[in-house]
Amino acid sequence: MSGKERWASRMGLVLAMAGNAVGLGNFLRFPAQAAKNGGGAFLIPYFVALVVLGLPLMWIEWTMGRYGGRFGHHSAPGVFDSMGKRWFWKYIGVFGLWCNLLIASYYLYIESWTMAYAGYSLWGGFAPAATDPKFVANFFSSMTGQVDNQLFAFSSWGMVLFAVCISFNVWILSKGLAKGIEIVSKIGMPLLIVFAMFLAIRGILLAPGVDPGVIEHPAVGLNFVWQPKYDSLWDPSVWLAAAGQIFFTLSIGMGSIHCYASYLREKDDITLTGAGAAWTNEFCEVILGGTILLPIAVAYLGLTAVTAMTAGGSGFGLGFMVFPQLFQHWGPGLANAAGFMWFGLLFFAAITSSLAMGQPIMAFLQTEFGFTRRGSAITFGAMLLPLSLPVALTHENAFFGDFDFWAGTFALVVFAFLETLCFGWVFGINNSWREMMTGAELKVPTIFRFVIKYVTPTLLFLILIGFIFKPKQEWGTVAKSLFTGQSIGTWEWAGDGMIGKLQHADLPDPATLGPIEAEFQKNLRTARTVDRLMMIGAFAGFSYLVHRSWKRRRAEGKVAS
Ligand code: ALA
Repeated sequence: MSGKERWASRMGLVLAMAGNAVGLGNFLRFPAQAAKNGGGAFLIPYFVALVVLGLPLMWIEWTMGRYGGRFGHHSAPGVFDSMGKRWFWKYIGVFGLWCNLLIASYYLYIESWTMAYAGYSLWGGFAPAATDPKFVANFFSSMTGQVDNQLFAFSSWGMVLFAVCISFNVWILSKGLAKGIEIVSKIGMPLLIVFAMFLAIRGILLAPGVDPGVIEHPAVGLNFVWQPKYDSLWDPSVWLAAAGQIFFTLSIGMGSIHCYASYLREKDDITLTGAGAAWTNEFCEVILGGTILLPIAVAYLGLTAVTAMTAGGSGFGLGFMVFPQLFQHWGPGLANAAGFMWFGLLFFAAITSSLAMGQPIMAFLQTEFGFTRRGSAITFGAMLLPLSLPVALTHENAFFGDFDFWAGTFALVVFAFLETLCFGWVFGINNSWREMMTGAELKVPTIFRFVIKYVTPTLLFLILIGFIFKPKQEWGTVAKSLFTGQSIGTWEWAGDGMIGKLQHADLPDPATLGPIEAEFQKNLRTARTVDRLMMIGAFAGFSYLVHRSWKRRRAEGKVAS
């Protein structure tokens, strides 16, 4: 039973927590977000967000988790119930199961790609990309089965890979914390760092005129990431993007940190260990993540091309479609090794995060329903199927993209906002601070009491409002018009805001398209309706399980709420 499980060592815990945080977001999302938000313009809001949102929320989640663990809870519903006391908090904790399941359903799909790419690179399969510019793109399409303007996608070997990847995760999870997650983290994290360092160093040593194919010094890419632009401080959308990245990269607002921390002992340190895990993540993100994708891509493609390729804020195109081809400039042996290292590090980054998505759900089934470790791991795999299958079998703008928006982006902010209320206001900042400082090896400055109680929830509230009502026009333009009375034209919702997303503002209007594209766009809308009903169904399902479990607990006289 998970109640008796513990981390075997502090190093194992730090690596598992850091592994939870370090993920695809560090190597693919961060550099692309930096590029999208004007390079160095991004770093100031990013570090401010780290201090006023990231670190406080890390400490909040670690503290809540350790506190809940004392009462035998290892997943968010129980953790929230033990702190919030009122009946509804356990249902808010459902977010901590739901987000993980939904995110895992597509995150594991990408993880399976990294597996395929790592193996194929090692085998030398990408060698034809040296002369055939379409080779890598064709490989990707054959693996995903994605075809333009078609809702359904199918690739038999892509599906086999996906099944292997899910099974591998289930198998590791079934081994438990110390013998499964901790061992994978102890192997995966150091290897990831070694691979990343090799690529970063090889990348910055590229020189135009010396290395074939290099047109720009990689320092141009580095400068782009690092040079701060102070006027970015006035752009709200850069702030929103920075906060979004901090959330995703630290795995905040998902429920996985609560779960991992719940296996700590009552007096184990959280402040230093939590900060250690967060800094490890930042090292992997800003130093390593910031030194691989953009500098190498800029060296071969130039800054303008790279900026255009990352305009959507995702580095997937560069990472999966372009990198295997660029590596071919390094000669056959090194190209294979570099490809293996790049996709291998992405694989380790992904698996240490996906395991953290499975553990809360397993822990819930174990502690609330008495499942065995093996039974709960298999059940987690089974729960993934109805969500993962449509992710893999439809266009990326349907289930995949929609789950990523609602569960992987929007819900994180909602959940984090509610948890700051639970921690700072309901449990009370005095109790919470005392709890956080129990066993603390790092004396957190008392200013953070104020930050946790007032600043973090206020910012989260503002971010949430910004997310819900995001206009297509820049927030800056809207704000200016409020003061000057200047018209901003017809009000439109942004495609990546909540209202806009509900109205499919991110998709082209079928009325403006030709018959084939229009049909496809209509199908996408239908698929989104189905995926949203499934998301609601999953939330309702988890809520029902929580209800059942607490009913039983009440009958056994274990809880008051
Ligand atoms: N924190 C994980 C990542 O960055 C989810 O990918």
